[in-house]
This record gives sequence, C-alpha cells and structure tokens, in this order.
Amino acid sequence: MNPMQASKPVYEQAGFAVTCRSPEEYAAMFALEEPFPAERDVLDVAAGASSYTAEARLHGVRAYAVDPQYAKTPAEMEEFGRREMETAAGKIGRLSRHMDWSFYGSPERQLEIRKRSLERFTADYRKRHEEGETVYRCGGVPNLPFESESFDLVLCSHFLFLYDEQLPYELHAAAVRDMLRVLRSGGEARIYPLVNLRYEPSAFVERLLGELDGASISYRYEPSELPFMPGSDRLLVLQKNRNCGR
Ligand SMILES: C[S@@+](CC[C@H](N)C(=O)[O-])C[C@H]1O[C@@H](n2cnc3c(N)ncnc32)[C@H](O)[C@@H]1O
Repeated sequence: MNPMQASKPVYEQAGFAVTCRSPEEYAAMFALEEPFPAERDVLDVAAGASSYTAEARLHGVRAYAVDPQYAKTPAEMEEFGRREMETAAGKIGRLSRHMDWSFYGSPERQLEIRKRSLERFTADYRKRHEEGETVYRCGGVPNLPFESESFDLVLCSHFLFLYDEQLPYELHAAAVRDMLRVLRSGGEARIYPLVNLRYEPSAFVERLLGELDGASISYRYEPSELPFMPGSDRLLVLQKNRNCGR
C-alpha cells in the first residue's frame, strides 16, 4: 500500500536498511552525557555505515562496530552505503509530514548530515581495512564476536524493536542477553528506538523487561533528544549491576 494513502505512517522495508547516522545523531538519540568517553570500551551493535565509531576513535575511545555487512570490502560498503542512503532519503521524503524536523531542520539538512557521516565512515572503514585493524567486526547478535565483560557501553540504534515484525521475540531476547554478556559490571546498554516500523511501541520491550533477572540487571527509560519518528521519544537503558557476572 502507498504509505501516503494509509491513515497511519509505515516505513516500508524489506530486509534491514543499512543507515549511516552521524555521531551527533547518536549523542542525541542515546541522550549521551559524554558522547565520547575517552579510554573506555564502547561497542556499536548493528552499526551499519554510521560514523560514530570513527569519530569516537578520534576522541580516544576504544570503540568497535559490529555488523553482518562488514563482510563487504571498502569499495562495496561505500557503494552499498550510498545506495541505501539515497533509498532511505526517498522513503523519508514520502513520510516527511509525519516526522518531527526540529533536530534536523529540513530533509535537505538531514541528507547533508548523512552524506558527511557516510564519508567519515567510509574513510575510516577503508583505513582500518588497509591497516588490518579489527575495529569493524563482521558479525552480530546473538553471537557477538567479543569476549564476555569487554565493554563499558554498548549501543544499538535502529535494529532491535524496530524490526519486530521481521525478527521474532526469541531473537530479540537472545540479542539483548548477548549485549549484556559483553557488558562489564556497572556498564550500560542503550537501545533506541523502542517503536517498530509502524511507529507503534514494540510489545517486545515490556515482555523482555519482565523476563530480565532483576538481581543482575536494572533498567530505566530516558527521554531521547532526537524526536524524529512518531512516538520515538525515549530510549531503554539497561545497566549491569556491579558484582553480577553473567
Ligand atoms: C538501520 S541499520 C542501523 C545502522 C546504524 N546503527 C545507524 O543508526 O545508522 C540496521 C543494521 O542492522 C544490521 N543487522 C542486521 N542483522 C543484524 C544482527 N543479527 N546483528 C547486528 N546487526 C545486524 C544491518 O546490517 C544494518 O546495518
């Protein structure tokens, strides 16, 4: 169905989009008090073509990104990222009247931000590839290619809960457990958004929270500072309590 004819907006998507959000978008959507925590270990799960990791590295963060798309060569990733960015811009254009443009200002400005972000990502992805550095790891949840208790902060943007019609609940639950596995005691996992592609709150969120082991994991909602999609005004913060190995 043409989304413009529907009474409610829907982001039509087959498979997973591969987007290229900027560090500024990450800082706002995850409400990060310290966007680049120097000397800390940070993992971006489902990082796609985002330049958060590239920028964080410039600020002294031991940042890593993981995504199944990182099997691609730098040239393939660049071309794929560009096509995905243009496709996303077209879809967002058709849904434009439903979106809150207060953060971006306009669709043109959003596209500028994304273009710059893709360039930063591509340059860093190429450089790490050439130098044999494993900053961009091919893989994903629920089998993250990292040792347990490796990170102080784990981020996941526009993957979990967004695709709740494509990914079953069991995969979401296993994915979140895997993110918590690689988190150190006292560390945080931040997940955004909590709405699906129909811009409805994902029912998986509350179900998952009900199943978490409250002795080892605390959770809270925080207001997101990137109110772009309808209903996307908060994020989920999961904290691994101190002295609780998992
Ligand atoms: C919409 S993009 C988000 C990219 C980036 N986080 C951003 O906000 O711009 C979703 C990403 O999830 C990745 N993905 C798909 N399956 C995954 C899995 N099992 N584990 C981790 N990432 C996965 C896709 O390859 C895609 O790059």
